[in-house]
Amino acid sequence: MPSSKAEQISGTIGPGKVTFLDGRGELPMLEVSTVWSTAEIYLQGAHVTHFKKKNDSPLLFLSQCSRFAEGQPIRGGIPVVFPWFGPREGLSQHGFARLKEWELKEFAPAPDGSASVRFRLPDTPEASAFPSCTVDYIVTVSETLQLELAVTNNSKTDEFVFENCLHTYFEVGEIGAVTIKGLKGVTYLDKVENFAQKVEADDAIRITSEVDRIYLNTPGTVEILDTRLRRKIRIEKHASLSTVVWNPWIAKSQQMPDFGNEEYERMICVESGNVSSNQIRLPPGEVSRLTVRLSSSAL
Ligand code: BG6
Repeated sequence: MPSSKAEQISGTIGPGKVTFLDGRGELPMLEVSTVWSTAEIYLQGAHVTHFKKKNDSPLLFLSQCSRFAEGQPIRGGIPVVFPWFGPREGLSQHGFARLKEWELKEFAPAPDGSASVRFRLPDTPEASAFPSCTVDYIVTVSETLQLELAVTNNSKTDEFVFENCLHTYFEVGEIGAVTIKGLKGVTYLDKVENFAQKVEADDAIRITSEVDRIYLNTPGTVEILDTRLRRKIRIEKHASLSTVVWNPWIAKSQQMPDFGNEEYERMICVESGNVSSNQIRLPPGEVSRLTVRLSSSAL
């Protein structure tokens, strides 16, 4: 049932519609619909869990075993990784942004029929370890899904050093039918082999075992070709120098309590951000805008 806050916020925007609902685990979420597509976004983590174009399969993978509980990460969709990527001693993996309930600031209609929703990361005790900053996340739903993570360094004196990543889980028909293009010749850190530095030799990467790679210094578009779903996904990005490719494969899937044993067959993470040596050093007063546009077409 929508809450009273929800009723005030829900509304129709041009041909688009935004509805505020109690989602799974009673976590608040937004349902956005446009003439082309629908999306679902949880306030916890400002987490897009679903995007689907009419007459297409869902774009994003969401685990059947995901937790939907306060302070627990959601497995699938697009976790917002900030202000660090990966483990950090004594702190939660991939930063605190994905665990917090973000504030819904506005939703805006556009004459072209798209619907944009803007979230803001609230002040949290964890943020006190960093220079003062404002973190906004704008999700624009149309025929495509566009995401912008805007970080403003409010400090007058201190540089803000951070990592960011839109940790996108894509749904695929069958992992054996998938190739990933756009990374040939790029240097990467192979996390499965203790961060060994390698150069991508393949024009069309296939996943046949656990893959966990950080591709560095690569601003280019990446494509996922899925011959089972007969779909090509394009990942266009701006202000992103890293692409992370992850599939847990069999053994790791079995170790993850919030992921099904066979679900590795139906997903691939291709994540856009700035991690490891591509971390951002944001001068005082400046804004960094990580932007990703996801689109799909028939193959
Ligand atoms: C990827 C990392 O981005 O996220 C992997 O490269 C990690 O090493 C994966 O296992 C999932 O992380 P988490 O914290 O959501 O289980």
